[in-house]
Amino acid sequence: MNREAIGRRFARLATDAVVRYPPLWRLFRGPLRRQFNGLAPVWNTLRRPDSLASFEEALERIEPPRRVLDVGTGTGAGAEAIKRRFPSAEVTGVDLAPAMIEQARASVRGVRFEVADASHLPYEDESFELVTLSNMIPFFDELARVVAPGGRALIAFSSGAETPIYVAPERLETELRGLGFTQFAVVAAGRGVALLAQRGATQNTSG
Ligand SMILES: C[S@@+](CC[C@H](N)C(=O)[O-])C[C@H]1O[C@@H](n2cnc3c(N)ncnc32)[C@H](O)[C@@H]1O
Repeated sequence: MNREAIGRRFARLATDAVVRYPPLWRLFRGPLRRQFNGLAPVWNTLRRPDSLASFEEALERIEPPRRVLDVGTGTGAGAEAIKRRFPSAEVTGVDLAPAMIEQARASVRGVRFEVADASHLPYEDESFELVTLSNMIPFFDELARVVAPGGRALIAFSSGAETPIYVAPERLETELRGLGFTQFAVVAAGRGVALLAQRGATQNTSG
């Protein structure tokens, strides 16, 4: 097995473990950060032209948000697509890997990029009308904490179940329903799939 295949397997293992039992993140955090720091210079060459197909299709279905957070933004392609679709939105992209954030800052305009861990986001409760994840491990409690009442979460995987970091839409829906999300849509486009979820308009049930 080559290095890239080992990396993909490791990403899938980490995703399955952390979704099942989030405290395991402390074991995976360092190795994944190293893995993605190493991949940052070539990440854009590994992405396919239709990597954001389901992500962008889901964006078409929502009204313009005011504040948006793209979690695990990598080189910022998802954040850039959001800014293109909603030019007046205030868009922030965060990533664990500083080298990814460097690449994002160098190539994407009009978006704020910060190094941050999705398991402990440095933002106030209910700060964003839209929180997006593309090919990223979901930390459900933190995700739900920062979505405003009536706001949305968009979780997309570029190659559906073949994506190394992948969580089935049914599982995503179950987790988010328990955290106060009430409306769900599965969006398929290209090889990708996304779940678009809307939080109830009343206060968060997570805390
Ligand atoms: C598979 S890449 C996806 C990058 C980008 N969203 C895309 O679709 O091209 C996953 C990204 O999530 C980041 N990441 C993984 N775990 C994270 C965490 N807990 N907090 C923030 N970023 C994380 C990695 O550093 C990596 O850049």
